[in-house]
Amino acid sequence: MERKIIALIFMHCSLFISPAGAQVYLDESKPVEQRIDDALRRMTLDEKIAVIHAQSKFSSPGVKRLGFPDLWTDDGPHGVRPDVLWDEWEQAGQTNDSCVAFPALTCLAATWNPDLARLYGESLGEEALYRNKSVMLGPGVNIYRTPLGGRNFEYLGEDPWLASRMVVPYVQGLQSKGVAACVKHYALNNDEEYRHQVNVIVSDRALHEIYLPAFRAAVQEGGAWAIMGAYNLYQDQHNCHNATMFNKILKHDWGFDGVVISDWGGCHNTDEAVRNGLDLEFGTWTDGLTMGRTNAYDGYYLAAAYKQDIREGRYTTKELDDKVRRVLRLFYRTTMKRNKPYGFLCSESHYDAALKIAQEGIVLLKNDVVKKDKAPLLPLNLQKMKRILVVGENAIKMMTVGGGSSSLKAQHEILPLDGIRERLPEAEVHFARGYVGDTVQSYNGVTVGRSLYETRSQSELTAEAVEKARQADVVIFIGGLNKSDYQDCEGHDRKGYDLPYAQNEVIDAILKVNHRLVYVNISGNGATLPWLAKVPAVVQAWFIGSEAGKAIASVLTGDVNPSGRLPFTWYASLDQCGAHALNTYPGSWRPDRKIIDEEYKEGLFVGYRWIDRLKVIKGKDANKPLFPFGYGLSYTTFKLGKVSADKQSMTANDKITFTVPVTNTGKRAGAETVQLYVSDLQSSVERPVKELKAFRKVFLQPGETQQVTLTIDKNSLSFYDDRDGQWTIEPGDFEARIGTSSMNIINCYKFTFIQ
Ligand code: BGC
Repeated sequence: MERKIIALIFMHCSLFISPAGAQVYLDESKPVEQRIDDALRRMTLDEKIAVIHAQSKFSSPGVKRLGFPDLWTDDGPHGVRPDVLWDEWEQAGQTNDSCVAFPALTCLAATWNPDLARLYGESLGEEALYRNKSVMLGPGVNIYRTPLGGRNFEYLGEDPWLASRMVVPYVQGLQSKGVAACVKHYALNNDEEYRHQVNVIVSDRALHEIYLPAFRAAVQEGGAWAIMGAYNLYQDQHNCHNATMFNKILKHDWGFDGVVISDWGGCHNTDEAVRNGLDLEFGTWTDGLTMGRTNAYDGYYLAAAYKQDIREGRYTTKELDDKVRRVLRLFYRTTMKRNKPYGFLCSESHYDAALKIAQEGIVLLKNDVVKKDKAPLLPLNLQKMKRILVVGENAIKMMTVGGGSSSLKAQHEILPLDGIRERLPEAEVHFARGYVGDTVQSYNGVTVGRSLYETRSQSELTAEAVEKARQADVVIFIGGLNKSDYQDCEGHDRKGYDLPYAQNEVIDAILKVNHRLVYVNISGNGATLPWLAKVPAVVQAWFIGSEAGKAIASVLTGDVNPSGRLPFTWYASLDQCGAHALNTYPGSWRPDRKIIDEEYKEGLFVGYRWIDRLKVIKGKDANKPLFPFGYGLSYTTFKLGKVSADKQSMTANDKITFTVPVTNTGKRAGAETVQLYVSDLQSSVERPVKELKAFRKVFLQPGETQQVTLTIDKNSLSFYDDRDGQWTIEPGDFEARIGTSSMNIINCYKFTFIQ
């Protein structure tokens, strides 16, 4: 009888729990969290430890016994990096790892077009899928705080709202392919110099209002599956195992359920890594990034040492299980996901995407009427300009190689000179080198296509450029920065704000014989342009990847009407930037010279926020930058009409929508970007004069008018109150300032926030 009862109870229970041994973790009909529980139960301590640290330069193991494949990561963020050897940084020499190089993220930000960010993510995801990479190490969303920042080119500009709007669709597009985004570098990695030793000191307000919003948007709106810690320190703790950053803000406050991955070599301490939220350790230096013990993965902070600590009872498996749970979740989202789309490498659609993003991101900064021609210099008048001189090393230099971890092995890269020649088969296109910059022929095993070897002296190069310019109808100078050390490159910052090499001198010399000069700047940063008043046309062309030459030629000739807008303030001089004006960069070394404290004394006042503030304090034109944030010209003209709103006041549960008619008043189709900045007119704390809170890029045919609507809600009005650590909105008057750049506000609309 007793046995019968027991048997009945057992049968009854078995209706509710899976039969012993049923592989719930493999059962796709079961909720993921249940599958994770099941997998976790089955894993041994060794297997758990194995999945939380690397096994090679870019991979970590799955759980072979249970059928979880290895996890392969790769850089990021502009294309899928070529494979390196298992345990070395040398190229593996694969034949299937050439890629499409997409434009750098600064260019993407300059499109001000979130649809293109989605396309970028999707295209990159397809390339990653083909290469069997499940985590792309990007996008980077660190704020452009100083124009010296070596990695600004990999980021989305100076403004938290713009960066947020662009990162969300990038992440969603990438992850729609079953490839995880690993948003980096969280957080405060705003410059490169001493990146391993910098301890950033920043107010809570600046942290939350300026430096964190793009990460938060990527996590909460984009649903990012992974995030990468940063090398630097905050509150004296490295940002790869920082209690405030990970435990409090990311995981607790934002509810992040993904994986925290260390930057390569960013982990320094087992205890902090265990307790402070690092989930997956990569790239720990055994002796620097390039040397050290081979296959030293057991020596990682989250490897043998951690296992030993658990065995000896210093930790329970509480933290470990949380890390493993997150890693398993990542597996289910990527490697274990069965219904993934197919991957494509170097497909036509990816080239089209790269070209489109490049064309929409190029910014026309200046286009004056040339008196003799009675017309602006651009687009080039091809009827009259038969003899064209291209000058500058950047016209013949590959820019998809170099710059650090974002370096690529592009299947092809159309150089600017080749793009111009191809577009203008009937013109005579001459070339003069002009100056010698960086002549390195190969980078991380990728050889630069064209030889940059040069033996002539600077005076010979200048003389050649001047002589050829004398006979040319127009000169296109293609210069700027490049991807070598101390320029737009990881690991260091620029040493100064001027253009490097002899560029200024050559431009001055050319201007003496030919004033029809278009300056095309290739860079991810601004620079001084001392000859600006004498040059009629300036184009900002970024690092734009595989289709660079084609995109530049299409804008110069007018096949494409430029519509990019600057994602950062282009300062006239370094002292116009808050960080430099207050002398807070790169910081001060502590007496032991181990840590350098960098205090962000300018607080919230980064980029246009600093320019606006000085304008208020010192008067109208104080600190006028060369080109403001949000600025860019077109070959057509636009007019913004009077703004209206659907209400005069709003509450926390409301939204308010502004409508502004925008007309293309010129003769060509083109795009205008309408920008809405919010100004708090009455506040108990100092706030920036205005802050970008909405924008819309609108494409218009000649004569066409569209009603552009821009909607904001309570979040657009709030500030981070560091007195109680909350986002707060104070009732009172606000103003929506609508215009076409941070310094061209055309319409203001006052409204009230009622509690
Ligand atoms: C960079 C990361 C990169 C990683 C792997 C690090 O040095 O800071 O951005 O993803 O290397 O290449």
